[in-house]
Amino acid sequence: MQNGAGIFRLRFHCPGNLPYNEIMENYTFEFPTKICFGKGQISRLAQLMKPYGIRVLLGYGGGSIHRNGIYDTVTAILKDNGFTFTELSGIEPNPRIETVQRGVDLCRQNSIQIILAVGGGSTIDCCKAVASGYYYDGNLWDMVMKPETAKQALPLFTVLTLAATGSEGDNGAVISNPALNMKKGFHIDINYPKASICDPAYTFTVPALQTATGSADIMSHILENYFRPGEDAVSDEISEGLLRNVIRALPACLKKPDDYDARAVLMWCSTIGISTLTSAGKGGRWSCHAMEHELSAFYDITHGTGLAIITPHWMEHILNAKTAVKMAGLARRVWKIEEPDDQKAAKKGIQAMRDFFAACGIPMHLRDLGIDRIHFEEMAADAVRLGHLDTEAWVPLKVEDVRAIYEASL
Ligand code: NZQ
Ligand code: ZN
Repeated sequence: MQNGAGIFRLRFHCPGNLPYNEIMENYTFEFPTKICFGKGQISRLAQLMKPYGIRVLLGYGGGSIHRNGIYDTVTAILKDNGFTFTELSGIEPNPRIETVQRGVDLCRQNSIQIILAVGGGSTIDCCKAVASGYYYDGNLWDMVMKPETAKQALPLFTVLTLAATGSEGDNGAVISNPALNMKKGFHIDINYPKASICDPAYTFTVPALQTATGSADIMSHILENYFRPGEDAVSDEISEGLLRNVIRALPACLKKPDDYDARAVLMWCSTIGISTLTSAGKGGRWSCHAMEHELSAFYDITHGTGLAIITPHWMEHILNAKTAVKMAGLARRVWKIEEPDDQKAAKKGIQAMRDFFAACGIPMHLRDLGIDRIHFEEMAADAVRLGHLDTEAWVPLKVEDVRAIYEASL
């Protein structure tokens, strides 16, 4: 992609005999969000927010923070420290553009200075779009479709309650427009939160299935970066380590929901799994997310469930002599497959991943979610178009490829 001194053609074999012979892309490493990680870190919230004002929009979801007490903790901190707040409640999973508009209206009516998102990825994403939508003069969906038109954002802070998306430390926001059957990633650096409170204890109440699908999302982000054009030995070894940790921690959380150490592993893997740490040196685009976002757009399903179903079928679809080398490396080092033949090892690794998701309770067929093939053609066309899958994916996919992957996933 780039020219000049920043390109390294790696022609050596590192431990593990990875055939590194692709181009390492140039990259910028930046992590502008302050992550306050660990028990009791909420006590730092007021100090972090104070320089930015006193009028706060408090965004949250459907009520889990009322049930687990996080709402009481946060609002007490706000009141005790002289903040006033307006609530944007009921932010739905797969947050909608109408809710973003509601948040922008509240901010304007109440001269909001700071946005505080308390929840999972949906709440944080919605609040990111509200933060930039506040300054946006025009139709908010246009802003989502063309992120570069958003120029400024209110300062955003988050209190993370679910390990999954990495939204607490990234520049992405994914917004749905049900009227158009669209779900669109909106990536721009003004989306980075100023700071995020990441206390693993705040995820003790996440239900088992949501814990599992959130972990599938974490793993997918890591795998999407792993299987991208461009090579970087360091990124890949970090990715393999992160994957091994998620695979170890998820069953522990399912067994004992208040296992602090295991919840901490998932939370940290959520944050760094999607960061430049795993994508440095990589180019191109993600494949499975483009396909999954169509499923969520049309059927409003849980993001991580769609990914758990699609990912193994995508890997099987693109398995060939060339891709087998990389997939076999993953199978051996992450899934502990002992098999000298690359194609066989790759297949066993894919099956191990599928078995792992199923054992963690994730439905593994689209039909389990009430999805049939009626929209496959339209969804496949949108996935290719919006995800640039035919030109920028690790293995380019045409509409008929995506359709075949959906069919196999049924
Ligand atoms: O809404 P409430 O009542 O809070 O309940 C939520 C929701 O029902 C519940 N929950 C969250 N924390 C909880 C809890 N329940 C009990 N105890 C807690 N501590 O979990 C349910 C799901 O929440 P949600 O925020 O929707 O989940 P997630 O974090 O997986 O976010 C999914 C959204 O993020 C987008 C997805 O597409 C989807 O729209 N993504 C965002 C990305 C980003 N910003 O970079 C990247 C991802 O790939 C992804 O696309
Ligand atoms: Zn995701």
